[in-house]
Amino acid sequence: MADDPHETENSHQDLLAQARHAALNSYSPYSGFRVGAALKLTNGAVVTGTNVENVSYGLTLCAERAALVQAVSRFGPAIRIEAVAVANLNAAASPPCGACRQVLGEFILPDAPVLFPTTDGFRTMPFSSLLPMAFEMKLK
Ligand code: THU
Repeated sequence: MADDPHETENSHQDLLAQARHAALNSYSPYSGFRVGAALKLTNGAVVTGTNVENVSYGLTLCAERAALVQAVSRFGPAIRIEAVAVANLNAAASPPCGACRQVLGEFILPDAPVLFPTTDGFRTMPFSSLLPMAFEMKLK
């Protein structure tokens, strides 16, 4: 049952495990910070990504955006994200960066839980609290 708290807890733990697993593939020779992200889609699929750095540092792709690009590439533009987990292999606190929040915002359900590591475990926040005023373009 979707609203069974034990089921929710299990699926969150599973999503975190998949994010951690994705971080094993991190290409991060410059920072050594190995990040993984897992997106649960409303179609039931889980898509993961990891950070891919570049010697031109600013071209680095974060794990969250790598996962998002893969999700759209696999399932098309109608995807919706219902949960996100972020993990790293460095035992560091790491909420998703601002750029990734904006990019996730294009496809995520407003109340989707976002799980991310803190200094003493994990925190879960609804996406709308992480990015309360996303950029939007409403032309007159
Ligand atoms: N990074 C992510 O993968 N996700 C974030 O939300 C922030 C930062 C990566 C980018 C870079 O490879 C490394 O972490 C250090 O900034």
